[in-house]
Amino acid sequence: MLQPRGDRKVLCAGLICLDILSVVDHYPVEDTDNRIERQIWQKGGNCANSAAVVAQLGEQTAYFGTLATGRAADMVLDEMREFGVDVDQVVMHDGYASPSSTIIINTSTGTRTIIHADNNLPELTLSDFHKLDLDQYKWIHFEGRNMTEVAKMVDAVQEYNRSRSMEDRVIISGECEKAKYHPEHFISTVDVMFVAKEYAQHHGFPTAQAAVEGFHRRVKKGATVVCAWGELGADAMGPDGVHHHADAFSPDQVVDTLGAGDTFNGAIIAAMCRSLPLEEVLKFGCKVAGRKCGQFGYRGLT
Ligand code: ADP
Ligand code: FRU
Repeated sequence: MLQPRGDRKVLCAGLICLDILSVVDHYPVEDTDNRIERQIWQKGGNCANSAAVVAQLGEQTAYFGTLATGRAADMVLDEMREFGVDVDQVVMHDGYASPSSTIIINTSTGTRTIIHADNNLPELTLSDFHKLDLDQYKWIHFEGRNMTEVAKMVDAVQEYNRSRSMEDRVIISGECEKAKYHPEHFISTVDVMFVAKEYAQHHGFPTAQAAVEGFHRRVKKGATVVCAWGELGADAMGPDGVHHHADAFSPDQVVDTLGAGDTFNGAIIAAMCRSLPLEEVLKFGCKVAGRKCGQFGYRGLT
Protein backbone atom coordinates (compact mmCIF):
# COMPACT_ATOMS: atom_id res chain seq x y z
CA MET A 1 0.00 0.00 0.00
CA LEU A 2 1.15 3.58 -0.71
CA GLN A 3 2.37 5.42 2.36
CA PRO A 4 2.25 9.16 1.63
CA ARG A 5 4.14 11.30 4.18
CA GLY A 6 1.73 13.18 6.41
CA ASP A 7 3.61 16.44 6.79
CA ARG A 8 3.97 17.38 3.12
CA LYS A 9 1.67 18.82 0.49
CA VAL A 10 -0.27 17.35 -2.38
CA LEU A 11 0.56 19.26 -5.58
CA CYS A 12 -1.85 19.28 -8.52
CA ALA A 13 -0.33 20.34 -11.86
CA GLY A 14 -2.55 21.17 -14.80
CA LEU A 15 -5.27 23.49 -15.99
CA ILE A 16 -6.92 26.37 -14.18
CA CYS A 17 -9.44 28.53 -15.98
CA LEU A 18 -12.51 30.69 -15.47
CA ASP A 19 -15.76 28.74 -15.85
CA ILE A 20 -18.90 30.69 -16.73
CA LEU A 21 -21.89 28.45 -16.12
CA SER A 22 -25.28 29.26 -17.60
CA VAL A 23 -27.88 27.17 -15.81
CA VAL A 24 -30.97 26.33 -17.89
CA ASP A 25 -33.96 24.03 -17.35
CA HIS A 26 -33.81 22.65 -20.89
CA TYR A 27 -31.11 22.53 -23.52
CA PRO A 28 -31.52 25.48 -25.92
CA VAL A 29 -32.49 24.96 -29.51
CA GLU A 30 -29.90 26.34 -31.91
CA ASP A 31 -30.49 29.90 -33.12
CA THR A 32 -33.13 30.74 -30.49
CA ASP A 33 -33.11 33.45 -27.80
CA ASN A 34 -33.19 31.94 -24.28
CA ARG A 35 -33.14 33.06 -20.63
CA ILE A 36 -31.15 31.34 -17.95
CA GLU A 37 -32.10 30.35 -14.37
CA ARG A 38 -28.80 31.58 -12.99
CA GLN A 39 -25.23 32.29 -13.97
CA ILE A 40 -22.19 31.25 -11.94
CA TRP A 41 -18.61 32.38 -12.39
CA GLN A 42 -16.14 30.03 -10.73
CA LYS A 43 -12.67 28.60 -11.09
CA GLY A 44 -12.41 25.57 -13.31
CA GLY A 45 -9.86 23.25 -14.86
CA ASN A 46 -9.40 19.59 -13.97
CA CYS A 47 -6.41 20.04 -11.72
CA ALA A 48 -7.64 23.22 -10.08
CA ASN A 49 -10.93 21.50 -9.30
CA SER A 50 -9.19 18.41 -7.91
CA ALA A 51 -6.87 20.58 -5.81
CA ALA A 52 -9.83 22.42 -4.26
CA VAL A 53 -11.36 19.06 -3.32
CA VAL A 54 -8.13 17.62 -1.88
CA ALA A 55 -7.68 20.76 0.25
CA GLN A 56 -11.27 20.63 1.44
CA LEU A 57 -10.76 17.04 2.52
CA GLY A 58 -8.02 18.09 4.90
CA GLU A 59 -4.73 17.75 2.99
CA GLN A 60 -2.25 20.59 2.63
CA THR A 61 -2.57 21.28 -1.06
CA ALA A 62 -0.81 23.36 -3.70
CA TYR A 63 -1.80 24.09 -7.27
CA PHE A 64 0.70 24.50 -10.12
CA GLY A 65 -0.26 25.84 -13.53
CA THR A 66 -0.19 28.93 -15.75
CA LEU A 67 -2.42 32.00 -15.93
CA ALA A 68 -2.39 35.36 -17.69
CA THR A 69 -2.16 38.46 -15.50
CA GLY A 70 -5.54 40.18 -15.29
CA ARG A 71 -8.92 40.11 -13.60
CA ALA A 72 -9.86 36.56 -14.55
CA ALA A 73 -6.67 35.28 -12.95
CA ASP A 74 -7.23 37.36 -9.81
CA MET A 75 -10.72 35.94 -9.47
CA VAL A 76 -9.80 32.27 -9.85
CA LEU A 77 -6.71 32.57 -7.66
CA ASP A 78 -8.74 34.23 -4.88
CA GLU A 79 -11.20 31.36 -5.06
CA MET A 80 -8.40 28.80 -4.84
CA ARG A 81 -7.06 30.58 -1.74
CA GLU A 82 -10.55 30.47 -0.22
CA PHE A 83 -10.43 26.70 -0.65
CA GLY A 84 -7.14 26.74 1.24
CA VAL A 85 -5.00 25.90 -1.79
CA ASP A 86 -1.48 27.34 -1.95
CA VAL A 87 -1.16 29.07 -5.35
CA ASP A 88 2.24 30.67 -4.76
CA GLN A 89 3.89 28.60 -7.50
CA VAL A 90 1.47 29.57 -10.28
CA VAL A 91 3.35 30.87 -13.35
CA MET A 92 1.94 34.20 -14.55
CA HIS A 93 2.27 35.36 -18.18
CA ASP A 94 1.84 38.96 -19.33
CA GLY A 95 0.20 39.85 -22.62
CA TYR A 96 -2.12 36.85 -22.85
CA ALA A 97 -5.71 36.06 -21.85
CA SER A 98 -6.47 33.39 -19.27
CA PRO A 99 -8.30 30.25 -20.44
CA SER A 100 -12.05 30.20 -19.93
CA SER A 101 -14.98 27.88 -20.52
CA THR A 102 -18.56 28.69 -21.37
CA ILE A 103 -20.71 25.93 -19.92
CA ILE A 104 -24.38 25.10 -20.28
CA ILE A 105 -25.74 23.20 -17.27
CA ASN A 106 -29.08 21.59 -17.99
CA THR A 107 -30.79 21.03 -14.62
CA SER A 108 -33.42 18.71 -16.07
CA THR A 109 -30.70 16.16 -16.93
CA GLY A 110 -27.66 17.35 -14.94
CA THR A 111 -25.56 17.42 -18.12
CA ARG A 112 -22.82 19.93 -18.72
CA THR A 113 -21.83 21.11 -22.19
CA ILE A 114 -18.41 22.75 -22.23
CA ILE A 115 -16.95 25.12 -24.81
CA HIS A 116 -13.36 25.78 -23.81
CA ALA A 117 -11.04 28.58 -24.95
CA ASP A 118 -7.38 27.97 -24.16
CA ASN A 119 -6.53 31.41 -25.56
CA ASN A 120 -3.08 30.15 -26.55
CA LEU A 121 -1.77 30.70 -23.05
CA PRO A 122 1.64 29.02 -22.69
CA GLU A 123 1.45 25.77 -20.74
CA LEU A 124 3.77 24.68 -17.93
CA THR A 125 7.32 23.85 -18.98
CA LEU A 126 10.00 21.66 -17.46
CA SER A 127 11.94 24.79 -16.64
CA ASP A 128 8.93 26.09 -14.61
CA PHE A 129 8.82 22.73 -12.86
CA HIS A 130 12.51 22.84 -11.97
CA LYS A 131 11.77 25.91 -9.83
CA LEU A 132 9.70 23.79 -7.42
CA ASP A 133 11.25 22.37 -4.29
CA LEU A 134 10.16 18.73 -4.49
CA ASP A 135 10.99 18.19 -0.79
CA GLN A 136 7.71 20.00 -0.04
CA TYR A 137 5.48 17.42 -1.67
CA LYS A 138 4.33 13.92 -0.83
CA TRP A 139 2.13 13.52 -3.88
CA ILE A 140 2.13 15.16 -7.32
CA HIS A 141 -0.94 14.74 -9.49
CA PHE A 142 -0.52 15.55 -13.18
CA GLU A 143 -3.26 16.26 -15.67
CA GLY A 144 -2.67 14.47 -18.97
CA ARG A 145 -2.20 17.51 -21.22
CA ASN A 146 0.85 19.24 -22.67
CA MET A 147 2.39 15.77 -22.49
CA THR A 148 5.78 16.55 -24.05
CA GLU A 149 6.62 18.74 -21.06
CA VAL A 150 4.57 16.81 -18.48
CA ALA A 151 6.39 13.57 -19.38
CA LYS A 152 9.68 15.32 -18.58
CA MET A 153 8.25 16.52 -15.26
CA VAL A 154 7.19 12.97 -14.37
CA ASP A 155 10.68 11.75 -15.24
CA ALA A 156 12.16 14.49 -13.04
CA VAL A 157 10.08 13.30 -10.09
CA GLN A 158 11.16 9.72 -10.75
CA GLU A 159 14.77 10.86 -10.81
CA TYR A 160 14.19 12.65 -7.49
CA ASN A 161 12.59 9.50 -6.06
CA ARG A 162 15.55 7.32 -7.04
CA SER A 163 17.77 9.25 -4.63
CA ARG A 164 15.29 9.07 -1.74
CA SER A 165 14.32 6.39 0.75
CA MET A 166 10.93 4.70 0.21
CA GLU A 167 9.19 6.85 2.81
CA ASP A 168 10.55 10.11 1.35
CA ARG A 169 9.40 9.42 -2.19
CA VAL A 170 6.83 11.57 -3.94
CA ILE A 171 3.82 9.57 -5.11
CA ILE A 172 2.92 10.35 -8.72
CA SER A 173 -0.57 10.17 -10.17
CA GLY A 174 -1.67 10.96 -13.69
CA GLU A 175 -5.04 11.53 -15.27
CA CYS A 176 -5.64 9.94 -18.67
CA GLU A 177 -8.76 11.64 -19.95
CA LYS A 178 -8.40 13.12 -23.42
CA ALA A 179 -6.83 10.70 -25.89
CA LYS A 180 -5.85 13.60 -28.17
CA TYR A 181 -3.21 14.64 -25.61
CA HIS A 182 -1.59 11.16 -25.68
CA PRO A 183 -1.09 10.72 -21.93
CA GLU A 184 0.43 7.24 -22.51
CA HIS A 185 3.65 8.18 -20.71
CA PHE A 186 1.70 7.84 -17.46
CA ILE A 187 1.03 4.15 -18.08
CA SER A 188 4.57 3.01 -17.37
CA THR A 189 5.52 5.69 -14.84
CA VAL A 190 2.81 6.70 -12.36
CA ASP A 191 1.86 5.09 -9.06
CA VAL A 192 -1.82 5.88 -9.48
CA MET A 193 -3.35 6.09 -12.94
CA PHE A 194 -6.76 7.69 -13.31
CA VAL A 195 -8.48 6.45 -16.45
CA ALA A 196 -11.53 8.44 -17.54
CA LYS A 197 -14.39 6.73 -19.36
CA GLU A 198 -13.59 8.74 -22.49
CA TYR A 199 -10.00 7.45 -22.54
CA ALA A 200 -11.02 3.88 -21.71
CA GLN A 201 -13.55 3.82 -24.53
CA HIS A 202 -10.99 5.26 -26.91
CA HIS A 203 -8.83 2.24 -26.10
CA GLY A 204 -11.73 -0.13 -26.77
CA PHE A 205 -12.73 -0.92 -23.18
CA PRO A 206 -16.53 -1.11 -22.86
CA THR A 207 -16.66 -1.04 -19.04
CA ALA A 208 -14.68 0.32 -16.08
CA GLN A 209 -13.84 -3.25 -15.05
CA ALA A 210 -12.43 -4.06 -18.50
CA ALA A 211 -10.44 -0.81 -18.40
CA VAL A 212 -8.83 -1.39 -14.99
CA GLU A 213 -8.03 -5.00 -15.90
CA GLY A 214 -6.63 -4.00 -19.28
CA PHE A 215 -4.50 -1.11 -18.04
CA HIS A 216 -3.40 -2.97 -14.92
CA ARG A 217 -1.48 -5.39 -17.18
CA ARG A 218 0.46 -2.46 -18.62
CA VAL A 219 1.18 -0.19 -15.64
CA LYS A 220 4.38 -0.38 -13.65
CA LYS A 221 4.66 -2.95 -10.86
CA GLY A 222 2.94 -1.78 -7.69
CA ALA A 223 0.71 0.76 -9.43
CA THR A 224 -3.02 1.26 -8.93
CA VAL A 225 -5.50 1.88 -11.76
CA VAL A 226 -8.74 3.75 -11.03
CA CYS A 227 -11.53 4.25 -13.55
CA ALA A 228 -14.71 6.32 -13.04
CA TRP A 229 -17.76 5.59 -15.20
CA GLY A 230 -20.34 8.30 -14.56
CA GLU A 231 -23.54 7.10 -12.90
CA LEU A 232 -22.24 3.51 -12.96
CA GLY A 233 -19.70 4.38 -10.27
CA ALA A 234 -16.06 3.41 -10.44
CA ASP A 235 -13.65 0.48 -10.44
CA ALA A 236 -10.05 0.05 -9.32
CA MET A 237 -7.24 -2.47 -9.15
CA GLY A 238 -4.26 -2.12 -6.83
CA PRO A 239 -0.87 -3.84 -6.68
CA ASP A 240 -2.47 -7.14 -5.51
CA GLY A 241 -4.49 -7.40 -8.75
CA VAL A 242 -7.86 -7.61 -6.95
CA HIS A 243 -10.69 -5.89 -8.78
CA HIS A 244 -12.93 -3.50 -6.79
CA HIS A 245 -16.12 -1.76 -7.77
CA ALA A 246 -18.15 0.93 -6.02
CA ASP A 247 -21.61 2.04 -7.09
CA ALA A 248 -22.26 5.70 -7.70
CA PHE A 249 -23.73 7.60 -4.80
CA SER A 250 -26.96 9.15 -6.08
CA PRO A 251 -27.90 12.55 -4.72
CA ASP A 252 -31.62 13.40 -4.36
CA GLN A 253 -31.40 15.24 -7.64
CA VAL A 254 -28.51 15.44 -10.10
CA VAL A 255 -28.15 19.15 -10.88
CA ASP A 256 -24.55 19.73 -11.93
CA THR A 257 -22.11 17.06 -13.09
CA LEU A 258 -19.43 19.58 -14.12
CA GLY A 259 -16.15 18.43 -12.60
CA ALA A 260 -17.58 15.17 -11.19
CA GLY A 261 -14.47 13.36 -12.44
CA ASP A 262 -12.13 16.04 -11.03
CA THR A 263 -13.93 15.79 -7.68
CA PHE A 264 -13.69 12.00 -7.77
CA ASN A 265 -9.92 12.18 -8.49
CA GLY A 266 -9.40 14.67 -5.65
CA ALA A 267 -11.36 12.52 -3.20
CA ILE A 268 -9.42 9.39 -4.23
CA ILE A 269 -6.11 11.19 -3.65
CA ALA A 270 -7.25 12.47 -0.25
CA ALA A 271 -8.46 8.99 0.77
CA MET A 272 -5.20 7.39 -0.38
CA CYS A 273 -3.29 9.96 1.65
CA ARG A 274 -5.11 8.49 4.66
CA SER A 275 -3.95 5.01 3.56
CA LEU A 276 -7.50 3.62 3.49
CA PRO A 277 -8.01 0.18 1.86
CA LEU A 278 -8.68 0.49 -1.88
CA GLU A 279 -12.31 -0.59 -1.54
CA GLU A 280 -12.92 2.23 0.97
CA VAL A 281 -10.99 4.68 -1.18
CA LEU A 282 -13.27 3.90 -4.11
CA LYS A 283 -16.46 4.22 -2.05
CA PHE A 284 -15.26 7.53 -0.67
CA GLY A 285 -14.48 8.83 -4.18
CA CYS A 286 -17.99 7.96 -5.38
CA LYS A 287 -19.59 9.45 -2.28
CA VAL A 288 -17.86 12.82 -2.60
CA ALA A 289 -18.36 12.93 -6.41
CA GLY A 290 -22.04 11.97 -6.03
CA ARG A 291 -22.54 14.69 -3.44
CA LYS A 292 -20.99 17.17 -5.85
CA CYS A 293 -23.45 16.15 -8.61
CA GLY A 294 -26.32 17.09 -6.29
CA GLN A 295 -25.14 20.70 -5.92
CA PHE A 296 -23.55 23.53 -7.87
CA GLY A 297 -19.83 24.04 -7.44
CA TYR A 298 -17.34 22.42 -5.10
CA ARG A 299 -18.01 23.88 -1.66
CA GLY A 300 -19.25 21.92 1.32
CA LEU A 301 -18.29 18.47 0.06
CA THR A 302 -17.04 17.17 3.41
P1 ADP B 1 -16.31 13.17 -15.71
O1 ADP B 1 -16.79 14.36 -14.96
O2 ADP B 1 -14.82 13.21 -15.94
O3 ADP B 1 -17.07 12.85 -16.96
P2 ADP B 1 -17.56 10.78 -14.58
O4 ADP B 1 -18.82 11.16 -15.30
O5 ADP B 1 -16.94 9.48 -14.95
O6 ADP B 1 -16.45 11.92 -14.72
O7 ADP B 1 -17.88 10.80 -13.03
C1 ADP B 1 -16.93 10.63 -12.02
C2 ADP B 1 -17.63 10.09 -10.80
O8 ADP B 1 -18.64 11.02 -10.41
C3 ADP B 1 -18.34 8.76 -10.99
O9 ADP B 1 -17.51 7.66 -10.70
C4 ADP B 1 -19.49 8.85 -10.01
O10 ADP B 1 -19.05 8.42 -8.74
C5 ADP B 1 -19.79 10.34 -9.95
N1 ADP B 1 -20.91 10.66 -10.84
C6 ADP B 1 -20.87 11.11 -12.12
N2 ADP B 1 -22.12 11.28 -12.62
C7 ADP B 1 -22.97 10.93 -11.63
C8 ADP B 1 -24.38 10.89 -11.51
N3 ADP B 1 -25.18 11.23 -12.51
N4 ADP B 1 -24.90 10.48 -10.32
C9 ADP B 1 -24.12 10.13 -9.28
N5 ADP B 1 -22.76 10.15 -9.34
C10 ADP B 1 -22.19 10.54 -10.49
C1 FRU C 1 -14.40 20.13 -15.72
C2 FRU C 1 -13.45 21.12 -16.34
C3 FRU C 1 -13.99 22.54 -16.29
C4 FRU C 1 -13.23 23.19 -17.39
C5 FRU C 1 -13.14 22.09 -18.42
C6 FRU C 1 -11.88 22.10 -19.24
O1 FRU C 1 -13.85 18.84 -15.75
O2 FRU C 1 -12.18 21.08 -15.72
O3 FRU C 1 -13.85 23.15 -15.01
O4 FRU C 1 -13.86 24.31 -17.91
O5 FRU C 1 -13.27 20.87 -17.73
O6 FRU C 1 -11.85 21.07 -20.18
